[in-house]
Amino acid sequence: MIHEAGIIIPFTGAGISTESGIPDFRSPGGIWTRYRPIPFDEFLASQEARNESWGRRFAMQEQFGAARPSRGHRAVASLYRAGKAPAVITQNIDNLHQASGIAPEHVIELHGNTTFALCLDCSARYELSWVRQRMDAANGCAPDCPSCGGFIKTATVSFGQAMPDAAMRRAEDLTRSCDLFLAIGSSLVVWPAAGFPLMAKRSGARLIIVNRESTEFDEIADLVVHADIGTVLEPLILQ
Ligand code: APR
Ligand code: ZN
Repeated sequence: MIHEAGIIIPFTGAGISTESGIPDFRSPGGIWTRYRPIPFDEFLASQEARNESWGRRFAMQEQFGAARPSRGHRAVASLYRAGKAPAVITQNIDNLHQASGIAPEHVIELHGNTTFALCLDCSARYELSWVRQRMDAANGCAPDCPSCGGFIKTATVSFGQAMPDAAMRRAEDLTRSCDLFLAIGSSLVVWPAAGFPLMAKRSGARLIIVNRESTEFDEIADLVVHADIGTVLEPLILQ
């Protein structure tokens, strides 16, 4: 199917990054088995929630900082370099598709990116090192935007926060234009992202799902591979 396909759109979830040392969300030991998600309205409503949110992010800096592209990322980058995949749609926030050599404008991040921060009011960009230094100097209190007083958050999308319009539109165009949609490492339970495999199928594309666990979209897929992503996709890696 990969050989026959003209346009392949890889669609990735946290499962492609576990081999890189970043835990996923819903496997045993995953993020949501250890932390309760902080909804966006809570982040806005309380300084404690903002302190907790930033505390969690810096507690994970070891894993994020040391993470390198997995065999799965390298296989996706190989499809991109071979001209088979014009872009990748990802739910991940770890920047590993960019690190694997895919141009940033070709990584469609539905849930944003955790490697930098933005002011929620004026959209000023802040580096994580700046935030951390300010928090350490204010004994763990998350800083507000020095230029407008707005709250500062990693450039990610939390539950209850609006999805990024431009990324959603690009993801929809790509999903409708491909003839093979490759869903890799996602439990496909979080909407609207989970709707893309279905949209691809309804637009006439073939659908392949590679994921250790079954998903509710398995029965509409043309092929389902319940196995380790790195092992399954390794043969696609161009040397
Ligand atoms: N090989 C194959 N499958 C794997 C591997 C692996 N090495 N590691 C993990 N998986 C599978 C798990 O079995 C799981 O079904 O990857 C899937 C990851 O699912 P989730 O943890 O739910 O992650 P994801 O689908 O990306 O979550 C979607 O939820 O909380 C939000 O914003 C967050 O983007 C995230 C969204
Ligand atoms: Zn601001």
